[in-house]
This record gives sequence, structure tokens and C-alpha cells, in this order.
Amino acid sequence: MGLIHTVRSVARFSSPAMSRTSRRLSRVANIDDLRTLAKRRLPGGIFDYIDGGAEDEQTLRANSDSFQNWTFVPRVLRDVSLIDTSTTFLGQSLPLPLMLSPTGFSRIADSQGELSVARVAAEHHLPYCLSTLSTRSIEEVAAVSQGPKWFQVYVWRDKHMLRDMLQRAADYRYDAIMLTVDTAVLGKRERDVRRGFTLPPTLGVRTILDGLTHPRWLLDFLTHESITFSNVAQSSSFPKGTAVTLSDFISEQFDPGLSWSDIQWFRDNWSGPIILKGIQSVADAKIATDNGVDAIAVSNHGGRQLDGSPATISLIAPIADALGGTTPIICDGGIRRGSDIVKALALGADICSIGRPYLYGLGAAKQEGVHKAIEILHSELIRTMSLIGVSSLSHIDSSYVHHVSQT
Ligand code: GLV
Repeated sequence: MGLIHTVRSVARFSSPAMSRTSRRLSRVANIDDLRTLAKRRLPGGIFDYIDGGAEDEQTLRANSDSFQNWTFVPRVLRDVSLIDTSTTFLGQSLPLPLMLSPTGFSRIADSQGELSVARVAAEHHLPYCLSTLSTRSIEEVAAVSQGPKWFQVYVWRDKHMLRDMLQRAADYRYDAIMLTVDTAVLGKRERDVRRGFTLPPTLGVRTILDGLTHPRWLLDFLTHESITFSNVAQSSSFPKGTAVTLSDFISEQFDPGLSWSDIQWFRDNWSGPIILKGIQSVADAKIATDNGVDAIAVSNHGGRQLDGSPATISLIAPIADALGGTTPIICDGGIRRGSDIVKALALGADICSIGRPYLYGLGAAKQEGVHKAIEILHSELIRTMSLIGVSSLSHIDSSYVHHVSQT
């Protein structure tokens, strides 16, 4: 009797009211667990498109590993009973120094795709930057999000279509554009080459076989409208109804002749803030500032473009020092922990952005998974701030971090 009582007192059964998804997510401790879950739930080719990087994936690995080059210099006996994680970026107050980066084709992970991501971002009042290559359109996303919305663009050959997209983004009250400048040609994603990955994914024998071992994904894929590049589907230059490799698509559609003079074209066609995404050197950060851009995203496209690019975090301090606060900086690449956000801010970034973490969430558990990704980073951010002894983001500076190679 005594033993039964003891067993009963320590046994905790999860509530039957909890959905299977919530139960699964309750055992997810960090972003890497979300990745593991996404890997289990998505067909290999889809997971690899999201997870993979260019060539040997050195930059992909370095982006996250390099955060370990900095350790904290924690301070104690500071009052951390109230932690304020809010900040202001481009005139917008944000509850967290975080935005959701543009990622293409989110509907390959889940049929709701960008809509789920936009809803969660709006719920948290964080900027969501919709990709030009999204599978839900500018208008569809605007219909589900009252939150801060940005629109990402490339320099397309078809300027008429580009102007039209910018007009639609303005009409639907997108707050800013992000111009991606690191994709003159597509990086060689070797996992996609081996998988024969196309967009939209073709239902060949391999996909079907892969799908059969991931029946929930297959059912979701087969029972929803077919995936298209929603923002550009109407364009006459767009190959309708065909599956293409991303690399063929990009070399056909994007202008590799893009140069600094294109910034003026965007100024003439967009009246809001312009953020340059893909800055990877001090020299270019200065030129961007001289060209009057409103912010820069220090980014190597998540290690998906030039393999051998420096880890993003290694560029933050030199770029921040060179700009001296003249142009706000987004740190994009390798953020997997709330502590990574603190390190980036300590080195001079204003906010950070995440791509894969929310896509892992989407693949792992749809909208709830995206929410989980934000929640994990938020609680880790608060915990890190408490443990290094800062109660407000504005107090974080370089005195809280130490480069491990320095004595
Ligand atoms: C698209 O921008 C990609 O990185 O796949």
C-alpha cells in the first residue's frame, strides 16, 4: 500500500486532453530537438532542402559553431527580477530583438506554409519577412497578419514584374523591403543535386516512396492545392506548371548584373525602408551606409550560397565598429539559442533573425511548432540575461563577452 502510494505520488500522467502534437512538443527542449522531430516527420528531400547548405557546408556549420568562440563574462548580484527583452527597430517596437527571415517554399514543409509562420510572427509582434519565392502570396499573408510585415526581393530580370510586386507590397502595407544581394547565381546545394530536388517537388517514384514512410506529410501534400511560386505565378516569364531546379530557375529569372546602382532603382520604386541582406564584409557595410540603406542584414544566406564565407557572428563586431551606430544591423545566420542572440547583441547587432529554427518548427508540428521555436528562444534569452546579470537589452555590451582566443 505504502509503495503504491509512493508510486502514485511520483507518477505524472500527461493529461488526456493534451493533443498528440502538444504532448510531442512538451518533450522538445531546444531548437535542435525541433530539428530532430522535423527530420523524422519530413521526407528526406524536403528536410535536406531546408537543412542543407552549399558545397561542403563549412559555412553552414561555422555559422552556429562560431558562437562558441565567445564565452560570457557574467556579473552577479544585479537585480534581475524584471527582465525587459523589448527593443525598437526601424521605428517599430518589438518585444524581442528577433525577426523571421525570408525562406522560400514553406509549403513544402506544411500545406499552410507561410500563413502559419506569419500568424505566429504576428501573435508575437515580430517582423516576418515574406520571401519573393514564397508559396503563399503577398495578399494571402497580409490577410492573416496584422503584425509587422516585410517583403524580400531579388533583382529580377523582369523589372515590370518586380515593380508590380513592390506596388502590391505597398498596397498591402508591408513595412519594409529586404533586398537580397548574395544570390547573383545560386549556391551549389549538393544534397539537392543528389536528391534530384525540384520546385515544386515532383511526385516521382522516389518522392512517393519517401512519402509513404512519411504518410502524414504525403496526405497533407496530396490533399491541398498544388504548390506554386505564388507571388510570381501570373508573370508571363514564369514557367507555368513545370517543376524546375532552383538553380535553373534563378539563372533564368535573376539578374546577375546587379550592382550598387540598383539600389537607386529600388529607392525610386519603394518609399519605405530598404534593408540590404547579404552583407559579408566591412567594406560593403560601409558602401551600403554610403548608399543610404536603412539597415543591413549581415548574412551568408544561412550557408546556402558561398561556401567559405565567414561565419556571420565573426563579422558583427568589425562591421558594428566600422559603422559606429549609423546603420542598424541584423545578425542572420546560425542562431540556435537565446544565448546566441545575447552574444550577437553584445558584439553590436541590433536584432537577430532566424530561418531554419522556425522551419524546423513548421516541419515538426505545423503552426504549433513555429510557436514553439519562438517560445524556446524567448525563454532562453530571458534566462541568459538573468544569468549574466542584465535586466534590459540596452545594458548588453561587449563587456559581457570574451573571445576564447584572447587571454
Ligand atoms: C532560397 O533563397 C534558398 O536559399 O533556397
